[in-house]
Amino acid sequence: MSSLQIQHTISGAREVIRQWLASGESVVLVPTMGNLHAGHMSLVNRARSLADRVVVSIFVNPLQFGPNEDFEAYPRTPEQDQELLEGADVDLLFEPSVEEMYPDGKEGTAVVEVPGISDVLCGAHRNGHFVGVVTVVTKLFNIIQPTVAVFGEKDFQQLFIIRRMVEDLNSPVQVVSVPTRREDDGLAMSSRNRYLSPEQRSVAPGLYATLQQVAQQVQSDDDSLEDIEDWGKRQLEELGFVPDYLSIRERHGLSTPSPSDLDLVVLVAARLGSVRLIDNLVIDRV
Ligand code: PAF
Repeated sequence: MSSLQIQHTISGAREVIRQWLASGESVVLVPTMGNLHAGHMSLVNRARSLADRVVVSIFVNPLQFGPNEDFEAYPRTPEQDQELLEGADVDLLFEPSVEEMYPDGKEGTAVVEVPGISDVLCGAHRNGHFVGVVTVVTKLFNIIQPTVAVFGEKDFQQLFIIRRMVEDLNSPVQVVSVPTRREDDGLAMSSRNRYLSPEQRSVAPGLYATLQQVAQQVQSDDDSLEDIEDWGKRQLEELGFVPDYLSIRERHGLSTPSPSDLDLVVLVAARLGSVRLIDNLVIDRV
């Protein structure tokens, strides 16, 4: 029988967690926006091995969506999510309302910002997005008080920024990352994939295929990284994507690589119709 508890209020969640901590149990948090798929469940499975109690939060965070983005349309599937978590040995589902998390509205809340890195790549195309992400993650850390939190590597820049926040603010939470889960054809699993039409779905694996070709060119060609990035963007356009960016970065600082940097990552965001997909691939320059 499932032992999943569900709390919608901060005080309710805190009471459950207070009892666990009082009896010496450790807590791991998996923050999500719901519409759970196999990618999320691999985070949950990893979480199981990291602490005594597993907490999953489901909160579609309005603060990280811009005015013209898909906050209203973001898929919400609470019954299906609950069933999945019941079958996955999760101890607590924390599922607050917007009013519970932002009682003074999203304009009235204090925010947490990691400067600089939040304004490039996805941040350059989604104004204020990472302030929203880092603010809600900080709030969730304060509410749940986990020793560990688990995030997916598909959101490479998000993961990087959260690690920076943890370091800069001396947060005691350990951040653990889990590799991207992919469909058989290479498409990274994402809640937004469900919005792809059948035709767009058949094109979508081209995003990862392009990253693989970019990685191969970095490893085998003499072309400059700028030329390879330009090739990648053109390739995406030919496939039918509208790229926001395709950028090769040094992967530990997300800076523009110098010739001596060997640990790279290529990051991409591109649209198919109104669906925005992101992905990334680590490249070891040889
Ligand atoms: O990656 C996500 O689903 C969200 O950005 C997160 C980390 C749950 C914050 O809302």
